[in-house]
Amino acid sequence: MVMAVTKRDENGPQAKEDPLAGLSLGRVLITEDEITRRVAELGELITRDYAGRPPLLIGVLKGAFVFMADLSRAIHLPVEMDFMAVSSYGTATKTSGIVRIVKDLDVDLVDRHVLIVEDIVDSGLTLSYLRKGLAAQNPASLEICALLLKTDQQRVDLKIPYVGFEIPPDFVVGYGLDVAEVYRNLPDIRIMDGATS
Ligand code: IMP
Ligand code: MG
Repeated sequence: MVMAVTKRDENGPQAKEDPLAGLSLGRVLITEDEITRRVAELGELITRDYAGRPPLLIGVLKGAFVFMADLSRAIHLPVEMDFMAVSSYGTATKTSGIVRIVKDLDVDLVDRHVLIVEDIVDSGLTLSYLRKGLAAQNPASLEICALLLKTDQQRVDLKIPYVGFEIPPDFVVGYGLDVAEVYRNLPDIRIMDGATS
């Protein structure tokens, strides 16, 4: 009888797979200037819509931290801020829709005007999950502001009154968005080449 000899036997323990293998930084999709202008517009809209009832901004970490910093300064109202950290299971470029809350809120939402600040909506599963959890805490109102929305990718019906840009279904990085935790600090938004999004 011939014994099968596996590659692992020959080479020792397998090396950890590189999550960035086959991926490279592609072209700029949204420039720094375009982001600046759009964030200012969103800030004006929110300032107008929330006059007399300053919102509690809830940033979804980690992706929304850059957008939240700029957007909050474009809103001319005494806003409060809190953050939630979520991590979704999946590969480097594809969410599974199963979300784990890594850091919950510190504040009470009862009777507050809550505005969720998110970096990007793809399937919409992450936001849908978060929104359900926040709605159960009886806020006075609950809306969403997302910097990016991937056109026609949503698997759930989410009404999002504040959207920065609608983009094609490519995988993008920069301005808070990552692939395998890198590129969040790029000032513009770029396409990740080689990603199956
Ligand atoms: P959804 O649950 O499919 O809507 O995915 C939303 C989450 O997946 C976002 O909060 C991001 O963390 C991540 N995500 C989705 N698309 C991209 C992308 O193109 N670049 C970086 N992260 C993304
Ligand atoms: Mg992410």
